[in-house]
Amino acid sequence: MNPLKQFFAHCARPQGRMGRLMVRGMNVGHKPIASWGLAQLDGEGSFQRIGEFGCGGGANVQQLLHKYPGCCISAVDFSEISVQEAQRRNRAAIDSGRVQVIQSDVAALRLAAESFDLVTAFETAYFWPEGAFAKVHELLQAGGLFCIVHELDGSTAMARFWERWVPGLKVPSADELQARLRAAGFARVETIHRPRFGHLCVKAWKMCTLGMREGKNYECQRHQARTRSAL
Ligand SMILES: C[S@@+](CC[C@H](N)C(=O)[O-])C[C@H]1O[C@@H](n2cnc3c(N)ncnc32)[C@H](O)[C@@H]1O
Repeated sequence: MNPLKQFFAHCARPQGRMGRLMVRGMNVGHKPIASWGLAQLDGEGSFQRIGEFGCGGGANVQQLLHKYPGCCISAVDFSEISVQEAQRRNRAAIDSGRVQVIQSDVAALRLAAESFDLVTAFETAYFWPEGAFAKVHELLQAGGLFCIVHELDGSTAMARFWERWVPGLKVPSADELQARLRAAGFARVETIHRPRFGHLCVKAWKMCTLGMREGKNYECQRHQARTRSAL
């Protein structure tokens, strides 16, 4: 394989020394897109139980801890190197019980249903297999939010360029993401573009099941209040 492609293959699943370099680089290089993505959550209220999926080196876990001081985070990645780096970077929060880092494919995660009120995915859903969005849907509680943040929008020439260089990269357009999210069961999907940069944030809410089960009312009221204020 072309050496450049070999290097970029570590975007999809970092491995070995080069993978470690890539993960540390992404912690720095993805800061602007992650900060923009996190700003898209302003106005959504606070979150307590967060899944940070495809967490890479764990820099976004730190940002989430800072943004939501009361939260606990389960960070997930299937790369051993990413898990090690995320653990190293968030050691204090792991020791205090606020963060756990799990090595798993998102699609095969074995956690209790409705474990999270927010799941985030920064620069990673491009690589996820069939079934991963349905897994996120299962792991969100009613009214919960799934937030995907992409530096690339699949409808641009830039996306086609990077697909040639990064093995495993398949950049969806906003419409494709919306269709996949709806097929996975998400009731409401909203897209935010940052046209000058080609950045994309897609927010998807799990349907609110008000009154169907005990203990869900608080979440549903919050969801309803948010929906009302958006009208
Ligand atoms: C391009 S990196 C982005 C890392 C981090 N989110 C960031 O913004 O810097 C993609 C990460 O997603 C992970 N990943 C890709 N597909 C995955 C899957 N199916 N399950 C779990 N992790 C996955 C990779 O191992 C890698 O660490």
